[in-house]
Amino acid sequence: MITCSAPGKIFLFGEHSVVYGKAAIACAIDKRVSATLVPCSSVKIKIAGQYKPVNPKKNPYVAGAIYEMNKIAELPGFCIDINSELPSGAGLGSSSAVTVATIKSLDVLADTKLSLKEIAEMSHKIETNVQGKASPTDTFVSTFGGSVKIPEKVHIDFFDAKIVIGNTGKFASTTNLVSDVYELMSKHPDSVNCIMDAMDRVSRDGEIEIQKKDYKKIGELMNINQGLLNSIGVSTVQLENLIWAARNSGAYGAKLTGAGGGGCMIALCDENNIQKVVNAIKKAGGDPFVCNTTKEGVRVDKNNVNPE
Ligand code: MEV
Repeated sequence: MITCSAPGKIFLFGEHSVVYGKAAIACAIDKRVSATLVPCSSVKIKIAGQYKPVNPKKNPYVAGAIYEMNKIAELPGFCIDINSELPSGAGLGSSSAVTVATIKSLDVLADTKLSLKEIAEMSHKIETNVQGKASPTDTFVSTFGGSVKIPEKVHIDFFDAKIVIGNTGKFASTTNLVSDVYELMSKHPDSVNCIMDAMDRVSRDGEIEIQKKDYKKIGELMNINQGLLNSIGVSTVQLENLIWAARNSGAYGAKLTGAGGGGCMIALCDENNIQKVVNAIKKAGGDPFVCNTTKEGVRVDKNNVNPE
């Protein structure tokens, strides 16, 4: 049996503006997706307790990983079981984590010894094939872990934080939201460009405050970033309700994370007000859970096939 897992991520600063080449900061979180392989006569995936053939329409990320790995290795038969601690389609990078964890498990199975850079690149290629367009943020952070500055794709000082995530439970398409922002940009290029520049500034100031570990100022910058995201139309009433509930319960700052239009918000908290923020998000209609940022990227959890 082989089990590999990869983390989800949050955007601390800079979603959407990153699409226009501006600075962003993303952090891996300690909620993971795992891929477990067991020997099988053919290739199958476990769905609702039953093994079925892998369907590229229903399991595009797993199918993409198998397709790419088949190009570089002769894979034996296996059954794959995906387990996730992340809500899917909620802006926390679950599809990237599925892809990265699956590639790593196949890499261990086939003993191809891919580097982390190769895993990140292969995962990004698969995401782009499935979604049409995807920034490398999610796949890079899920592979390498830690706190990452985009577009450079380099680690910055680790941002060690307790985060309360509030899920609105509403799915929103990243592709549609990115194209809505593009349309707004086409209609009001000067105004929207200024907003993108302001988001860039916020991300850069955020990096400085992360170096100083000034959580109060990081929270204030998150609030500024949220105001800017709201101004380009990607926030929603539900997100705003959860964000204000968190702020009013003592969070340092709160904002949406990912594409918006639904999905999740994040609140930066200290140990003392976590429960209050969790309760407030629940009362405001969200589904809250607590996580920590993490340095850990993709990892092998179990391997009795090709032990190192
Ligand atoms: C989506 O999680 C974040 C966006 O910036 C798009 C991207 O970076 O690919 C909206």
